[in-house]
Amino acid sequence: MQKITIEKILKKKNKNPIVCLTAYSKSIAQIADKYCDIILVGDSLGMVLYGMNTTRKIKIETMILHAKTVKDFARKSLVVFDMPYKTYTNKFVAYKNARKVMRLTKCDAIKLEGGKKIVNIIKYLTKRKIPVMGHVGLLPQTSINFKVKGKNFIQKKQILEDAIAVDNSGVFAIIIECVVENLAKIITKNISVPTIGIGASKYCDGQILVVDDMLGLSDFYPKFVKQYSNLKKIIEKSVKDYAKDVKLRKFPSNKNVYK
Ligand code: KIV
Repeated sequence: MQKITIEKILKKKNKNPIVCLTAYSKSIAQIADKYCDIILVGDSLGMVLYGMNTTRKIKIETMILHAKTVKDFARKSLVVFDMPYKTYTNKFVAYKNARKVMRLTKCDAIKLEGGKKIVNIIKYLTKRKIPVMGHVGLLPQTSINFKVKGKNFIQKKQILEDAIAVDNSGVFAIIIECVVENLAKIITKNISVPTIGIGASKYCDGQILVVDDMLGLSDFYPKFVKQYSNLKKIIEKSVKDYAKDVKLRKFPSNKNVYK
């Protein structure tokens, strides 16, 4: 088993698609680790695991608990910690929190959402040896609505400029979320590090999805999510069968009893 490094991720640009997925728990981390280059402990966990109505409410302490577990059980993949809302309001706050995260979770990198506005923060962190992944396009921590970005010229120009600025600030990869196909293509061509798309077309250097969405466990199915499974249905059937067995005294059977 060869550990995926940032150098290996960088070499994949324009060559081999980079496979990424979110994970928040031991069991998913163990499975994802077999097939993914990057595992993101996304702040989406606030919504998918804790039922919050926005990613903004998740606390760094909660994220740290999940990230520690994921990192413990993902031995090969690069594990990235998604810095929650308001934990990188300026470079000093960002550095203090990022160091705490790296020390407590042993994650390989952190992710920050934003473009030109956060370039000085990214530079400050990368100069101090904290590997950073960028995130442009739709920014769930600050966006007022969940709408595809880059449909008009002004937005396209602004997102491209954001991506170039973030690229020049020392990140090792950039997530592009929910933008029109041709913008993702232009960004991928014009920046030096790999782009990882979520709702950003096949022209990115890699892809990421929220694991609960692709497994059919969440109730969030925008166009860009391909559902590979319907776990909600499978779990519901199992729970229903269990309840029936208990009521009919079919469970526990002889096989499940100590004698
Ligand atoms: O929090 C998250 O899961 C993310 C992905 C959507 C990229 O940021």
